[in-house]
Amino acid sequence: MKSPETILSELADSLAEKGWAVTDDFFITDFLQELLKEEMLLFKSDQFKQAGIGKGAEHKVVSEIRSDFVHWLDEDNLSELQKQFCKQMEELKQFLHREFFLGLKEMEFHFSVYPEGSFYKKHVDRFQRDSGRTISCVLYLNQDWTENDGGQLRIYNNEIFTDVAPVFGRFVCFKSDEIEHEVLPTKKERYSITGWMKN
Ligand code: OGA
Ligand code: MN
Repeated sequence: MKSPETILSELADSLAEKGWAVTDDFFITDFLQELLKEEMLLFKSDQFKQAGIGKGAEHKVVSEIRSDFVHWLDEDNLSELQKQFCKQMEELKQFLHREFFLGLKEMEFHFSVYPEGSFYKKHVDRFQRDSGRTISCVLYLNQDWTENDGGQLRIYNNEIFTDVAPVFGRFVCFKSDEIEHEVLPTKKERYSITGWMKN
């Protein structure tokens, strides 16, 4: 197991070099299992809505572009697990803030569920009229995920791309304004938590 310092410094090196980073050692298994349970419970009890694109008045659901469902975390109403997650993200934010002088302030997160057959076409995360989103973060919660299950995050660096499987405990972060990416169609229900560090 790597030390937290090693994990963070490798993450920073990768972000600086490629604009994105991935680690499998960020969270402990018990915590991830509890978080998955909570997400599944919220999904089963209808507390998700179909995700859209754009912000404010421009927000719309376009299921040819994305077909996932989201549940936004409410910062005034966080569960104990959500608080723990946000605390760890806060530490990461402060580290990245120091490392890259990014001026990071707020954060926002949502649980995501991609039902079987769903996807999110190639895009960048930063909104056209709101430049706040600076670092995108995704934590995957899919146990026993295999290559056949699809649902990879495809990250583009110019002409080359890298496919990241959404396996349990994997954490990905990338520069929201630069990195084009997409979610390939998933063949199994796909669980994650996604968010942004903003300035
Ligand atoms: C997004 C997104 C990636 C993923 O929600 O904007 O690109 O792998 N998610 O879920
Ligand atoms: Mn995205």
